[in-house]
Amino acid sequence: MRIGVLTSGGDCPGLNAVIRSVVHRAVVDHGDEVIGFRDGWRGLLECDYLKLDLDAVSGILARGGTMLGSSRVQPAHLRDGVERAKGHVADLGLDAIIPIGGEGTLKAARLLSDGGLPIVGVPKTIDNDIAVTDVTFGFDTAVGVATEALDRLKTTAESHQRVLIVEVMGRHTGWIALHSGMAAGAHAIVVPERPFDIEELAARVGERFEAGKRFAIVVAAEGAKPREGSMAYDEGGKDIYGHERFAGIARQLSIELEQRLGKEARPVILGHVQRGGTPTAYDRVLATRFGWHAVEAVHRGEFGMMTALRGTDIVMVSLAEAVETLKTVPDERYAEAECVL
Ligand code: F6P
Repeated sequence: MRIGVLTSGGDCPGLNAVIRSVVHRAVVDHGDEVIGFRDGWRGLLECDYLKLDLDAVSGILARGGTMLGSSRVQPAHLRDGVERAKGHVADLGLDAIIPIGGEGTLKAARLLSDGGLPIVGVPKTIDNDIAVTDVTFGFDTAVGVATEALDRLKTTAESHQRVLIVEVMGRHTGWIALHSGMAAGAHAIVVPERPFDIEELAARVGERFEAGKRFAIVVAAEGAKPREGSMAYDEGGKDIYGHERFAGIARQLSIELEQRLGKEARPVILGHVQRGGTPTAYDRVLATRFGWHAVEAVHRGEFGMMTALRGTDIVMVSLAEAVETLKTVPDERYAEAECVL
């Protein structure tokens, strides 16, 4: 068989582990040929690719980022995107494509699958917001980075008796905020799923100082918003692909909390550091398992599907189901976190 693989959308620790696993399983165990498209869908649309053999993937398991490069380009951005992709798949004699990506990539995968292309998707995102899989690789690494940062920030916050508002990634969901905030013992967590009231938040932080504590850490998912009318709020705008470009919730919260509490407040934006660097062991293992199962699905002819983790098993779910909704933080998970803040 001839298989094409690509990584699309925001990069994520563990992508190289999937590529390596796909190549090992396909080339060594099945005698397949594997090619990798450069920069995600762009590579497929422009027929820009390289051959992937064991040498090509040697030494990449622990490396962050993606050896294939990534982009936010999608077939739907071009009027003839689907037709162009189909033409290149036929010209290259590909029997399957394995796109590795998040929400946007999986939607594009579904579009191409509906258009007749043989696709097996692999989900990835540090945000952990793909509904049909218990976990996505990259999440564990991102939570680890954010937790370490929060631990470090506590000492400087305490030295200066400050409120630090730490902005973590999470446009639509607050999984990184929830987990890192819980792991580091933050004093408040705000997430997109539950618009916050600025007065309630200020009261919670204020009570801490009244109780004699010398600092406070608030973890804010980048997509967290105040309850309508609760405070002035600048949402920001959109980037060239239509994705939110937030004006910065940490910066806005630091101004509002400083005024209300009479305590120095500072915003800290962790940003892309959460996505960079070496994946944790957990993420490497999950990514490797996803790659193995994606190749098996290709050989079974199970197209229009995606790998997913359910409990400890890897299962296949339809791409249609995978892109239906996002996995948001349920109220109970938030309550569990709030109880120990
Ligand atoms: O979807 C993953 C993610 O890391 C989000 O958490 C974040 O909002 C976004 O990507 C950032 O994207 P970009 O790298 O395009 O700025």
